[in-house]
Amino acid sequence: MKLRINTIVFAVFLILVSCKINVYTSSLKKEKFNQTNNWIVLEKTVSEKEGNTFSWSFKVKQPTEYVLQIVSNQAYFRDKTTVKIKIGEQEFEKTLLKSYVINSNQIVSEIKNKIQFKNIGNQTISISTKGNFTSLRIIPHYKKPIGTGNFHQEWLKMHQSIEKQKALQHFKESKLGMFIHWGLYSQAGGMWKETRINKSPFSGPKVAEWLMFAFRISRKEYSELAKTFNPDKSFAQNIAKLAKDVGMKYVVLTSKHHDGFSLFNSAVSDYNMVDATPYKADVVKELYDACLKEGLDFGVYYSHGNDWMDGSDGNYNNIKKENDSLGIYTHPIGKNLWDPSPNTHEEYLERKAYPQIKELLTLFPKLNLIWFDGTGFITEKQAFEFYKQVYNINPNVLVNRRVGYAFGDYLDAGDNKIPSASEKLDKYWETCGTTNNSWGYKSYDEDWKNPKELLYYFVDILSKGGNYLLNIGPDGEGQVPETSAKNLREMGKWIHQNSDAVYGTSRWKIPNEGQEETLLGGTGHRATKGFKRNFTSKDFWFTAKGNKVYVISLTNTKGEILIKSLKKGDETIEEVKLLRSNKILNWQQDKNGLKTTIIGLPKNALGYVVEVTLKNN
Ligand code: GLC
Repeated sequence: MKLRINTIVFAVFLILVSCKINVYTSSLKKEKFNQTNNWIVLEKTVSEKEGNTFSWSFKVKQPTEYVLQIVSNQAYFRDKTTVKIKIGEQEFEKTLLKSYVINSNQIVSEIKNKIQFKNIGNQTISISTKGNFTSLRIIPHYKKPIGTGNFHQEWLKMHQSIEKQKALQHFKESKLGMFIHWGLYSQAGGMWKETRINKSPFSGPKVAEWLMFAFRISRKEYSELAKTFNPDKSFAQNIAKLAKDVGMKYVVLTSKHHDGFSLFNSAVSDYNMVDATPYKADVVKELYDACLKEGLDFGVYYSHGNDWMDGSDGNYNNIKKENDSLGIYTHPIGKNLWDPSPNTHEEYLERKAYPQIKELLTLFPKLNLIWFDGTGFITEKQAFEFYKQVYNINPNVLVNRRVGYAFGDYLDAGDNKIPSASEKLDKYWETCGTTNNSWGYKSYDEDWKNPKELLYYFVDILSKGGNYLLNIGPDGEGQVPETSAKNLREMGKWIHQNSDAVYGTSRWKIPNEGQEETLLGGTGHRATKGFKRNFTSKDFWFTAKGNKVYVISLTNTKGEILIKSLKKGDETIEEVKLLRSNKILNWQQDKNGLKTTIIGLPKNALGYVVEVTLKNN
């Protein structure tokens, strides 16, 4: 009987909750915004009220980053008011910062810090404030647009095709790639009229390939750089050779960066290597050929949303108008607002970007990857269009996350960012990283990551089951800065000696033991904070392949080691070997772990790998 009453109470509760959710969704429908399904609008009138505290329960449909906004009819929230917020069990006090006026009399005030909802499901939120407001809105962060889902089924079919899955499998096994940022800006080396890019009077990224943006250089003046772009003919050979030496399996060259200049022979835009420079040849083709000859895969980077030469204002003003009416901030970064081309962004896509993607796929039939970037204000439909075009011409070509929305075949954690071990990504992933603090060549950036640091990032990525796309920024002549090539080759030696622990491996049951992870937190983070970490003989990273576990150390300390994650009872061991010398090692296993002794390491070894063969049971 008691059970039945409880069931009834619970059922009534469910009905009430779902009514509430319906209230929210129906009030959402009034807003004309194509992402309304993912907006959470909590009306004050339906909140639970206790004093000045208002609470709601709601449902997160899409895990992502959100922005919290308070809508009111009065100026109360404008002047840095603080509100107390509680989400689930977490309580914090926040200052309201940005304000927008919508519908001519409503004020939307925003909390600067974004909120992460990592899981789908029910949540509770409450705010405490004396201010008079009408609703609380939780909207997707501008950097993380969520799609309508309308294209998902069609996308899934392509993504799950045999061709794509084969390509993805091959990509996963490759593990290490070379990223190349090279273009007109490489001649300037991060300087404009004797001013370093870091000292430019405008805001925005200070990496060298952002030269045109950083100094708001007019299209005409910037395009003059093409007249002197005449690199050495050895570029393609040298680069392919370097990639091979380092043990990189694929190469990704900037075929067109945000500046809009194409390094390949494009029939739809004269602003390219063949038509506009004294070099007069298709340097993408040269590198493509050189890579195929070396047995390397080849991919191109292509900035599709941002094009400072022909992409108008990047659709900024249109989007801003719409966003303003909803009270959403529109970020101007990466948009040419100083000298936009006179066409519309839509015209740019139709006449330049889509056709150039077709050109790339046709010119390079063995292409493996298109690495889209500069998504900007590409709509969901346009992002899908890019994906579909690639698939229709060559289904073997992979597409990265930055094509936009959820249409990538694989993910990236962000520039110079490594996901933490606990983060569960729903697709395969790659981290792209720099060898100093810029992608494009910066003549004065000598803050090179040494071979050990580079290897650490690589090993950390391997142990978490991802790929590393490591960048070089050749100068205007096409020469790779000496230190960066040297450091890469040094790291490459280790890779060649321990290749079994690298290619074709995946994540083992745990990524590492010993010290906590030192995460790579973005290009700017490494630039200001540097890299500090002591490697000890108790720190190990793991990778796995078949019945083998690879135990990676980044020290060259000889003597006895204890690998705790391989203790008796957990794993049955058949053989233990030092990888670089193939020397069989004596070992003992007890409840504390696997013990073995490392011998015969050269003094300058960056580290070693112990290969543990497990008994098949
Ligand atoms: C960013 C930058 C760009 C660079 C890229 C590398 O999106 O805009 O300059 O090419 O990251 O991942």
